[in-house]
Amino acid sequence: MAALSHSRDPVTTFTIIAATRLGRATIADASTRRDLANVATEDGTITTMSEIAVRVAREDEVDKARSILGAAYAEYEGSFPKENWAPYLVDILDLEGRAAASELLIAERVGKIVGCVSYFPPGSKASYPSDSFSEPWPTEWAAFRLLAVDPAARGGGVGRRLTEVCIERARQQGAPAVGLHTTEPMKVARAMYERLGFERAPRYDFHPSPQVAVEAYRLDL
Ligand SMILES: CC(C)(COP(=O)(O)OP(=O)(O)OC[C@H]1O[C@@H](n2cnc3c(N)ncnc32)[C@H](O)[C@@H]1OP(=O)(O)O)[C@@H](O)C(=O)NCCC(=O)NCCS
Repeated sequence: MAALSHSRDPVTTFTIIAATRLGRATIADASTRRDLANVATEDGTITTMSEIAVRVAREDEVDKARSILGAAYAEYEGSFPKENWAPYLVDILDLEGRAAASELLIAERVGKIVGCVSYFPPGSKASYPSDSFSEPWPTEWAAFRLLAVDPAARGGGVGRRLTEVCIERARQQGAPAVGLHTTEPMKVARAMYERLGFERAPRYDFHPSPQVAVEAYRLDL
């Protein structure tokens, strides 16, 4: 098993007070609206549930990220043929396998980890699994994979913030573009990527089986 290297860089924290996110209550149900209320943390600090901090995960947070990945992607089990789902799930949960090439970013709200994403900086050797059926991203691109938000924490801006941080990081690191792959059942994510300006990049599409189309998107920076 590869050594974990998620924390090899100094931990950088990107914090936003997402006041504008309050507008999201229009798509949120009652429980999400409660999430947006002010709360007192254990040390008595009053904070707001809409404050989202994104940072590189510590090694002791990897298992929590894995459990969020498992819970977040479970909804797609029925959307893939069994023979594709089994290896995909192994890949989804294999944080150690992508640790050398990527950074595991986690999102925290009021001290609770609620989401994660694997960010591949420009120049990473394995910005996507090296297999025979897909063309890898250009080396100078950044990429991200496996965006996941705890089902109980959805609709509060976490997924968008994780995506925005990947884009910000890619821009700061001089990448000319960010790449990602997605599939038809991932409708919420696809629509969000398109609103953020991502465009289809069919050259990097691939088919793990005839029934499964994995579609590539790019955002030019
Ligand atoms: C996709 C996912 C990461 C979104 O996370 P989230 O924290 O709920 O997303 P946000 O609250 O930041 O909302 C992002 C956007 O989607 C919209 N949205 C969120 N939930 C929605 C829903 N159920 N229906 C329609 N739109 C929705 C929001 O309005 C927001 O719109 P904006 O782009 O105008 O800001 C989350 O649903 C998830 O983990 N899904 C399973 C894994 C997955 O599909 N990953 C992506 C693989 S490519």
